[in-house]
Amino acid sequence: MSDLLKRVRDMFPVMKADAVLVSDPYNIRYVSGYTNDTGVLLITKEAAYLLTDFRFLFQAKKEVKGLIQVVDMTASGYPLLVAELCKTHQIGRLAFEKEQMTYREFEEYSNAVKAELVPIPNYISELRWIKTPEELEKLRMAEHIGDIAFSEILPFLKPGVTELEIAARLTYSMQCHGASANSFPPIVASGINSSMPHAMPSEKKLENGDFVTMDFGCIYQGYCSDMTRTVVLGTASPKQREVYETVYRAQTEALAALRPGKKGKEIDAVARNIIAEAGYDGCFGHGLGHSVGLEIHEDPNCNAREERVLQAGMIMTVEPGIYIDGFGGVRIEDMVVLTADGYENLAFSEKKLIEL
Ligand code: GLY
Ligand code: MN
Repeated sequence: MSDLLKRVRDMFPVMKADAVLVSDPYNIRYVSGYTNDTGVLLITKEAAYLLTDFRFLFQAKKEVKGLIQVVDMTASGYPLLVAELCKTHQIGRLAFEKEQMTYREFEEYSNAVKAELVPIPNYISELRWIKTPEELEKLRMAEHIGDIAFSEILPFLKPGVTELEIAARLTYSMQCHGASANSFPPIVASGINSSMPHAMPSEKKLENGDFVTMDFGCIYQGYCSDMTRTVVLGTASPKQREVYETVYRAQTEALAALRPGKKGKEIDAVARNIIAEAGYDGCFGHGLGHSVGLEIHEDPNCNAREERVLQAGMIMTVEPGIYIDGFGGVRIEDMVVLTADGYENLAFSEKKLIEL
């Protein structure tokens, strides 16, 4: 953790500041070890403070690592306390995360703090892009719990069961296997509902002949997982099989192209071209994938706009889909980590078409 404080301080020249106020709870967690989402982290050249209120003081004192002092802000409020600490450390320019601070908070800090407030982009989040071996263990376990939930849900996929019940069972299964929560509300979409990439589970009952798309994941020790499988209830029609096989091929080829040094948009194009050439141009309307970590959606991405280059140690989802209005849709998603010469797939669930 103290290494992380150093890495943040090493960015002060880039930030053009002599201190930074970190308010993104995931960044606070990453740098300090504090796992609650109430608090801010002030890092100066010679000191670091985690400010939180009375309710979380004991937790914070137990969790913070390295030379970070926990300070109770209950009496003064955050802006006045930050102002006082900035005065103590003679801070002239205080960086803040511009994607995190609300306009109202900005006004309150501006009124209280004498230092100049300097907006910074996602410099701290970028520290999280390349995962450590310890983080990878948690991500592996999170995805493994998803695999178990998928195997446990298959026997329940029968005509008459509602999408809501399937979502609830996925959640139950993941928590029974050690997850603390869903990493996002499960998507369960059957029949023509599966033509909506992010359909909300409904009271619709599964029917014979339905595609059933299940996109779900969990949080394990703070780290998220994400996976999608689409199955068919009964025997797939020729059209369903063709759509499924196209998505499967797009995913297989995109995975084969995945390696450090490639741009996110190059990997996206591999899947997108296969889907377009198969006659489904316009039916894959979202990006191919995103990174995952403490948050379910992290940068960088694999989409048509992503110029950033992938590096070993990054997590990426690979989730092509085809969605056809009035017919249904298919998505297949794995979560992988980039290795020196390719990738390691963290998902093991079957990807050949399952007919139940
Ligand atoms: N699996 C949900 C998403 O990536 O948006
Ligand atoms: Mn995803």
